[in-house]
Amino acid sequence: MSERETWATRAGFILAAVGSAVGLGNIWQFPFKTAQFGGSSFLLVYLVAVLGIGLPAILAEFVIGRKAKLNTIDAFEELGYRNWRIVGVLGLATGFWILSYYSVVGGWVLRYIAGSVTGAYFADPAAYFGQISMGVDALALHAVFMALVIGIVALGIEDGIEKATKLMVPSIIVILIALAVWAFTLPGASEGYTYFLSPNFGALAANFGEIVPFAVGQAFFSLSLGMGAMITYASYIDGDESLFGDSLTIVVLNTFVGVLAGLVVLPLLFAQGIDPNTSGAGAVFVSVATAFAELPAGNALGFFFFVVVLIAALSSAISLLEVVVSWAVDNTSYSRPVIATGLGGVIFALGIPSAWDTAWLTWFDTLAYQLLLPTSVLGILIFVGWVYGRPALAELLKGSTANEGLGLTWLWTARTVVIAGVLGTLLLGFQTLFVDGAIVPPF
Ligand code: TRP
Repeated sequence: MSERETWATRAGFILAAVGSAVGLGNIWQFPFKTAQFGGSSFLLVYLVAVLGIGLPAILAEFVIGRKAKLNTIDAFEELGYRNWRIVGVLGLATGFWILSYYSVVGGWVLRYIAGSVTGAYFADPAAYFGQISMGVDALALHAVFMALVIGIVALGIEDGIEKATKLMVPSIIVILIALAVWAFTLPGASEGYTYFLSPNFGALAANFGEIVPFAVGQAFFSLSLGMGAMITYASYIDGDESLFGDSLTIVVLNTFVGVLAGLVVLPLLFAQGIDPNTSGAGAVFVSVATAFAELPAGNALGFFFFVVVLIAALSSAISLLEVVVSWAVDNTSYSRPVIATGLGGVIFALGIPSAWDTAWLTWFDTLAYQLLLPTSVLGILIFVGWVYGRPALAELLKGSTANEGLGLTWLWTARTVVIAGVLGTLLLGFQTLFVDGAIVPPF
């Protein structure tokens, strides 16, 4: 076997991980849910979830990956626990599953970039979404998006993912800041800020039972946890650096981009008098497109906005494909480009139902969110906390100036609070799946 690839620089690793984390979750989900669930008072709950549950969990994945320096399945065997490979297998399967529909949404975004330039959605944004989101159109763009993802992953860690994300992550931040400044100048923008950020403890208290699991689930999804993406990225780390420091940077940047997206979208909608309280897979596309259609420089602004969304989606999608590609690169003698194309092709095929009908997309997403992700996060945490234990602590402290006490706090938080949080989320998911019947496929 040829020598395993590594990141060229520490910043390269951090940016790739941020690129994985910052995605559709930050730009679509996060601003709207924050506004709906109590603004800055929800932000507080989310920060607690991210720091108390997301941070320990991301550290757990980093520890496994950096120690084993192998893909998410073989890593468990390398650490001496062959049977725990099942957790890696689940992660790999989840990767196939999520990327299949994530790529369909990526295809919609491609379509909206073109539509901004030509003004195709300006006349009737709702009808436009209906047209492009399902059927042959959606399928074709799903293929294009998947081809872009395959192209980057085929180039490898240093020349593909690292180079791409080094360019992508700063671009996301710069363009979003520029758009946020522009949104600030819109008449009526202040109502958007009020809606987005003013504390609303009433809304928070009234929906607490729904909000807490959402905050935890969002922390996991947004930080790309639970399917070995962070295990895989950490496996390419060369040398020892402070995993505490790296994780904190990643978590902070990820939250920052979510807030920034809110500072663009909500003033925009309020300035145009559009109700942000919409639901459904396409509602956000429609409401944002409506705002651009009514603005003087709508073509250019829509173009930049959807370009940001595309970059964010791409840099996340490559991490999803890399999880499965990494496994095949470690275990077969095929070249990386052949593997990326083959596996990408299989994932494309799995996405065909979602491209054909958004009811399938919603079903895939619900199962991923409520069942697959929490189950594999739970597996990873039980493994690191209770099975691997002490050696995990030693690995965490390598390259770090943190003392043993901080490490022990991490280990015990992971063992108790974090596992309890995931279990709670999983149980609430069962309610949706089995009682409300979401598990039934939409045939
Ligand atoms: N974090 C990404 C987002 O917010 C999605 C994502 C990429 C992901 N890789 C993942 C989610 C791995 C779970 C697991 O859009």
